Formats: sequence, structure tokens, C-alpha cells
Amino acid sequence: MIFWFSGTGNSLWAAKQLATALNDTLVDIAHEHTHGNHEYTLRTGESIGFVFPTHAWGPPPMVCDFARDLIVNGYSATTHCYMVTTCGDDIGLTVEILQKALGDFKLNAAFSLQMPNTYICLPGFDVDSHDTEHSKLMAAKQRIGHLITAIAERRNVIDVVRGAMPWTKSHILRPPFVSQGMNDKHFMCDSDACTRCGKCVAQCPMGNIVRTEGGTPQWNGNCTMCLRCLHLCPARAINYGKATVKKGRYHHSEFK
Ligand SMILES: Cc1cc2nc3c(=O)[nH]c(=O)nc-3n(C[C@H](O)[C@H](O)[C@H](O)COP(=O)(O)O)c2cc1C
Repeated sequence: MIFWFSGTGNSLWAAKQLATALNDTLVDIAHEHTHGNHEYTLRTGESIGFVFPTHAWGPPPMVCDFARDLIVNGYSATTHCYMVTTCGDDIGLTVEILQKALGDFKLNAAFSLQMPNTYICLPGFDVDSHDTEHSKLMAAKQRIGHLITAIAERRNVIDVVRGAMPWTKSHILRPPFVSQGMNDKHFMCDSDACTRCGKCVAQCPMGNIVRTEGGTPQWNGNCTMCLRCLHLCPARAINYGKATVKKGRYHHSEFK
């Protein structure tokens, strides 16, 4: 059973590769969490996987909330439990933060998977160059094969890029980022550019966006900051304040 969350398709691509190769089933964390579902039953010998993007050197807080509430019937000390986190660069103490949220479910294996960056909301952050994006995607295709082998063999392994000063990033920089930088207060829509296609409303994993009477989007305070609305807007009408106006946009090519 593979629990997945993805903003712009990188983590969903990884989760699908694993599910196909391991003949496993996918469970959409955002859908389950927003519908209040948190109880599952394992088949005999089935493993538990979590696949999600790193957000501010930790799992998206919504993924931690889901992990904290999780009930898995059939789980035992022999159940293999693993996580894969996609990231632009490095993950800090994401493994330790997820493990804390999981409580008695022990992570046997953890992997990071570098993929194109999606965080663009602060000065100095932008999407990768075309060349970097291409080489990250090529490398990810290679690396996912290693992950599949390790997971299929139920290895106990921590194979992650924590980066420099992981404790500082995850325990000093992350908390203010989560409390102040991970909300929808600064999203805005250029009503001249907006075509009223409704894609942002339909695609928001949290069901957080509604249409105003004029047909433009309105964010309602339950945002997980995945940036799907911003990156997928076909008209580039959505921005996070003025900071993203001149920035690039990215979503995985298999994510529609
Ligand atoms: C709010 C936010 C915070 C992020 N924080 C990090 C980070 O701490 N480290 C990192 O390497 N990448 C970070 N990223 C980049 C994503 O982890 C990376 O692009 C990921 O592959 C996106 O996956 P997705 O397409 O499944 O959403 C962040 C992205 C967002 C939107």
C-alpha cells in the first residue's frame, strides 16, 4: 500500500513507478485526509510506503497529520515500512520528522529522490534551468530503479541527501516557514489573464479553491502550499504576491 501526495507530479510519478514495479496499490493522502479517512487493512505480507515532496526540510504538514491519524490493520513488527521523498536539493531531517509523526509504525527504509524544483515564492528561488530539469529527470529515472530493487528486497536502509546543517534547516528555519510561509494569504489571480477555465478549482488537492461570482479563484485558508494551482494555471494568471511574476513554472510532463 503506497500512500502518496504530490503537488506538481514529481512524487506521483515516483509513486506510480513503485506501484507498477511492485504491483502495489496507490492511496491518495490528500483525498483521504480531506475526507477524514485514515483506517486501512494490509494484505498478508504487504508493505507500507509513503511518497511525498519535501516541503521546508520536512514532510508537508498535511502528510504528518495523516501519518499521526493512521490506523493500519494487519501491521506487525515484520511489516516493511518505507518512505520516498522527492526534493529539489536536500531533505534535512524529513525522515526523523515523519518517523515522529508515524509513532509506532517503524520506518525500515527511507530514500530521497532529487527532481526538478517547484519552490519559487521567496526571492532567490526559481525553477531549474531547462538543462538542470532534464538532467534531474534523467537521473531520477535511473535512481528509481535502485529504489524499486531496495524496496522489493525489503532492505533496511536510509539513503537520503540531508544536505548541510540539516538540524538547523529542519528545526530552526522550518518552523517559521511552516507557520508564516505555508498559507494561501498571498495567492492572487490576475483577472485579466484568467480564462475562468476552473482548472485550479478542480485540481486543488485540498479542495481549498472556489470560484468567485466573476469566475476567478478564491483560496479559503486550507492550503498545503503545494503550488499546484500556480504551476498548472494554463494562463499563468496565478501568482504568490509579486514574487513569482517573473519566475518560471514547472509540472511533471506526465501530470495533467
Ligand atoms: C513549499 C515548498 C517547499 C519546498 N521545500 C523544499 C526543501 O526543503 N528542500 C528541497 O530540496 N526541495 C524543496 N521543495 C521542492 C520540492 O520538494 C520538489 O520540487 C518536489 O519534487 C516537488 O514534488 P511534487 O511535484 O510531487 O509536488 C519545496 C517545494 C515547495 C512547493
